[in-house]
Amino acid sequence: NHPGWPATLGPVRLEAGLLTLRPVKLRDGATWSRLRIRNQNQLLPWEPTGVGQWERRHQPSAWAPLHSLLKKEAKHGTMLPFVIELDGRYVGQLTVGNIQRGAVRSAWIGYWVDRDHTGRGIAQAAVALGVDHCFGPVGLHRLDATVQPDNLASRAVLKAVGFREEGLLKRYMDVNSRWRDHLLLALTVEELAGGAVDGLIRSGRALAL
Ligand code: ACO
Repeated sequence: NHPGWPATLGPVRLEAGLLTLRPVKLRDGATWSRLRIRNQNQLLPWEPTGVGQWERRHQPSAWAPLHSLLKKEAKHGTMLPFVIELDGRYVGQLTVGNIQRGAVRSAWIGYWVDRDHTGRGIAQAAVALGVDHCFGPVGLHRLDATVQPDNLASRAVLKAVGFREEGLLKRYMDVNSRWRDHLLLALTVEELAGGAVDGLIRSGRALAL
């Protein structure tokens, strides 16, 4: 096993409930499929273009191969695929990917939250937990996030956790069937005195445990 995996992170106390992160599991297929299909309109504008129709790609049977890919990456130490739980219920996912060791020690972070639960600080708390874990047990030094300029909710999430803008990546990623510009945001360990979750508590975005 690689440092920091597998792991359960949290809880963070929000007004909405107790938020935790835990590794994806094979039994998540039915919930994953139901949430992904009902959030199609929220997710499609921001996610990498996939092969075939959304509903087909998110049938329960599509989870087993995706789950085994995520597990394989996690086993190789290149990915941390988490489910975001609120009071023990699956409400989204947070993934740390392209984990690089050596002299770089960086990764990217990405996330989505079910539309019934947005606007309650869930993504901010999930990202803060992920950040503290990556800079702590996983031993990384830098995290990148790429976001389309018009994804204002996601930009607000990253800003609340302390990510800084570093530039605009032209035609960076194939998203919703077009090459889309993305802002590059980043955070390095030196910038986070006291940790990301503590920062959310200090700014009133999360409650003390
Ligand atoms: N304009 C401006 N700000 C907005 C808007 C908007 N239209 N909508 C929400 N916000 C702000 C909120 O006010 C809040 O900021 P604040 O606390 O400073 O007021 C912030 O955005 C939302 O914070 P949370 O409540 O923690 O986020 P939430 O749990 O609602 O999840 C998320 C946000 C993940 C972006 C969700 O809307 C989602 O899943 N969207 C679709 C998928 C997606 O875009 N994922 C991110 C891709 S980019 C990446 O992964 C790096």
